Amino acid sequence: MPKYNLPGPKSAEYMKMSDQYEGGATSRQQPFVWDHAEGVRIWDVDGNEYIDWTSGVLVTNVGHCHPHHVEAIQQQVARLMNPYDFPTPERVTYAKRLVEITPPNLDACFMVTTGSEATEAAMRMAKRFTGKHEIISFYGGFHGRTGMAMAAAGKQGTKFRYGPTLTGHIQSPFPYCYRCPFDLEPGKCGNKCLSFLDLVVKTQSTGAIAAVITEPYQGGAGFIFPPEGWLTQLQTWCQEHEVLFILDEVQASFGRTGKMFAAEHEDLRPNFLPLGKGIGSGIPTSALLTEKRIMAEFERGEASSTTGGNPVSCAAAHAVLDIFEKENLVENSRKMGEYMKGRLQELQAKSKYLGDVRGMGLVIGMEFVKDKETKEPAPEIMWQVIDTCATEGLCCGAVGFYGNVIRVAPPLVISQADAEESCDIMERVVLGLG
Ligand SMILES: Cc1ncc(COP(=O)(O)O)c(C=O)c1O
Repeated sequence: MPKYNLPGPKSAEYMKMSDQYEGGATSRQQPFVWDHAEGVRIWDVDGNEYIDWTSGVLVTNVGHCHPHHVEAIQQQVARLMNPYDFPTPERVTYAKRLVEITPPNLDACFMVTTGSEATEAAMRMAKRFTGKHEIISFYGGFHGRTGMAMAAAGKQGTKFRYGPTLTGHIQSPFPYCYRCPFDLEPGKCGNKCLSFLDLVVKTQSTGAIAAVITEPYQGGAGFIFPPEGWLTQLQTWCQEHEVLFILDEVQASFGRTGKMFAAEHEDLRPNFLPLGKGIGSGIPTSALLTEKRIMAEFERGEASSTTGGNPVSCAAAHAVLDIFEKENLVENSRKMGEYMKGRLQELQAKSKYLGDVRGMGLVIGMEFVKDKETKEPAPEIMWQVIDTCATEGLCCGAVGFYGNVIRVAPPLVISQADAEESCDIMERVVLGLG
């Protein structure tokens, strides 16, 4: 007997309204409607309770409605909401704080509102600074849904029938080692995904490359992690070819991978670091970290945004950093991530449908296949698992180049007890497939 029959009556009513008035172009989710949440627990409008493995979409890193976060936002809302580009104490002190904790070459911070706006600004500034127009990105990559970000997408779904996309965008294979684009064996491939980049450039570039943009791990493509050292080698490639390096940490930052910023795993020095999602932990905000020598090229007014760096977002973002400092969330992400990945890898060994479990910190992907030999993607089996998890009180969602990967990305405040309980649910559901 499932714990809940879903959707409950109130959820069903709101889902019907959503179909009627919202057009149905948002992503597929489990069949319930969120009412409120606290820490890693969610309650739906019918009173059913779930453990959250989504953090929205890797957003609420400090936990849902953390009291310090809520209080900081409430106080700021009552004081000042938007003075546009006038500096505010909240904005300038936050910029200082971010500059101090990001890689040392990054000494300037430009605040915007969404991840797409941050990646778009990085590419725009790279073009303006270098006077060149080409951007290299990677198969499977996702950088948002605005014009340039969409042109940099490495997945057809992001740009299907929106063509023609911007010219000057060049793409190269990303090391998706579970499904090597060259059908080579990981570790014995001679780092083909990097050496191939030279051929891509020789065949496609007009000789005007402004920047390379990559995620540290690919999020939308299914939590795909490149082999250790690959990002360092890519950064060196950029330096040797005199192109700027954009490391898109919209998703990977704020403790998600077990370090505050994913760049720290290999001590990287990107020229641009777009940040989003966890930065506001639920309040819309984003930032682009870059170098003052780059910012110095711009005239007054070239970089501005109506709601970027507004005091409410900055107060929320300050509170997020306070919570990271006080509650040691980066360490908890590393520790709980290790435990959960271990549990899920044990499950992989027992299940005939769980082809791969990979991750770092609290970003873990569970890739479902019809057959472990052929690795044929199994989105239908994955959806069966996701929908059954909902009826057992576990909230999770899907990603993946083939739409067959469950994302395991709880708020970083998850306790050992909640990690165990949620892994127990997933284990029962996956083994129940037979
Ligand atoms: C790596 C990466 N870059 C950019 C974006 C776009 O962010 P937003 O949806 O806030 O515009 C996302 C969102 O999923 C992302 O994962």
